[in-house]
Amino acid sequence: MLETMTERIIKPARNLSGSLRLPGDKSISHRYAMLGGFAEGTSTFANFSTGADCASSLGCVQALGAKVDWLEDGGVAVTGTGGAFASSAEPLDCGNSGSTMRMMAGLLSTQAGEFTLVGDASLSRRPMERIRKPLMAMGANLVLTDGHAPIVIRGTSLFGIDYTTPIPSAQVKTALLFAGLQAEGTTTVRESVRTRDHGELALRAFGAEVTRTVDSVSITGKQQLKAIDSIVPGDISSAAFFLCAAALFPESNLVLDGLGLNPTRATLLDVLTALGATVAVLDLEEKYGELVGTVQLNPPPKGMGGTTVSGALAAQLIDELPVLAAIAPYSRNGIRIRDAKELRVKESDRIALVAQNLRAMGAEVEEFEDGLDVPGGQQLHGAQIDSGGDHRIAMAFSIAALRAEGETSILGAESAAISFPEFFDLLESVAER
Ligand code: S3P
Repeated sequence: MLETMTERIIKPARNLSGSLRLPGDKSISHRYAMLGGFAEGTSTFANFSTGADCASSLGCVQALGAKVDWLEDGGVAVTGTGGAFASSAEPLDCGNSGSTMRMMAGLLSTQAGEFTLVGDASLSRRPMERIRKPLMAMGANLVLTDGHAPIVIRGTSLFGIDYTTPIPSAQVKTALLFAGLQAEGTTTVRESVRTRDHGELALRAFGAEVTRTVDSVSITGKQQLKAIDSIVPGDISSAAFFLCAAALFPESNLVLDGLGLNPTRATLLDVLTALGATVAVLDLEEKYGELVGTVQLNPPPKGMGGTTVSGALAAQLIDELPVLAAIAPYSRNGIRIRDAKELRVKESDRIALVAQNLRAMGAEVEEFEDGLDVPGGQQLHGAQIDSGGDHRIAMAFSIAALRAEGETSILGAESAAISFPEFFDLLESVAER
């Protein structure tokens, strides 16, 4: 979490209009940073994520001997260590980033030496047993502190396992594939819900052989990676804030270019369609298995209807649920969220904070252990929002504020920089008042 608490005032808007190209996807940037740091040769990643989280991943690989250079066009060049990280006397700082900590743990488990992964106060509260258990089953030597960070890893040789993830988590899946890349034999990860597949795609991009079935992914160990030149697609989880904002106003007209449209990430487009919006996808292209395109959103002419997000959908939409819940009062029939218990162990307890902040804005909302019921047909009023230092809460309530009566103050607005430092400026550039 960042040190200072910045307040940001959001005024109501009439609609959203404009065309944006967003900074690179956070999930893909993390994986490119780590695999680029591990591979042989110099990789370049245009449109790399500008968020602090991905800077944490770059910082870790740099501390482990990779060379990291920011390019003038905003891209990043990473010269890798050819599969052998240097030891680091200092703890590796993962900041606020669960992705950095969990995936680096997988990558480091076979590396010679001892490594300590640390994070900020929020990250140090997040569950790490979910990676310790399967990595230990592969033979790793990994010690947690009461189930959390700091994590101390003593690198050793690993062997492949066949593992079924008890909770849907792409971070856990990727950590195991990163460990499996260097293990003896084959590692298979099975999942009941198809989580985001950027780990698999990135490994393939760097030249690893990865095989997939409907519900599993396998990698055989002892593979070398080769540097790549790639362009990171715009982050659809960042786009979610603008898409949801546009859906609030019948007169909006929003176009997003160069947006990542990987099918394991694009579920929000289906939900917005279910709410009555019209989503057009144009100019679809593919680069290293990742789909990129232009999205044009025409809002529901008579306002949003309502919907339920549960089961597999909840896992696939996990990062978009705070903003969906935050706009739900403005729908006609409300939004019901279930099977989303994981929201409680994100950067904050997102179920509790969403409920608390919706209530502060005058909404009625019912909280469940695994979700929320937000009735529709409610007019919100401006209030003071507690972001809890959580980037997605700060941004979600900035969107709710656009249709509220009166001004809203977002406390801890600086946390947006964890994933999306340009958020407030871009929002001002498309919000018409
Ligand atoms: C991510 C996976 C999700 C998501 C996070 C990024 C990834 O976390 O919430 O923002 O890049 O793999 P879990 O793996 O904990 O579900």
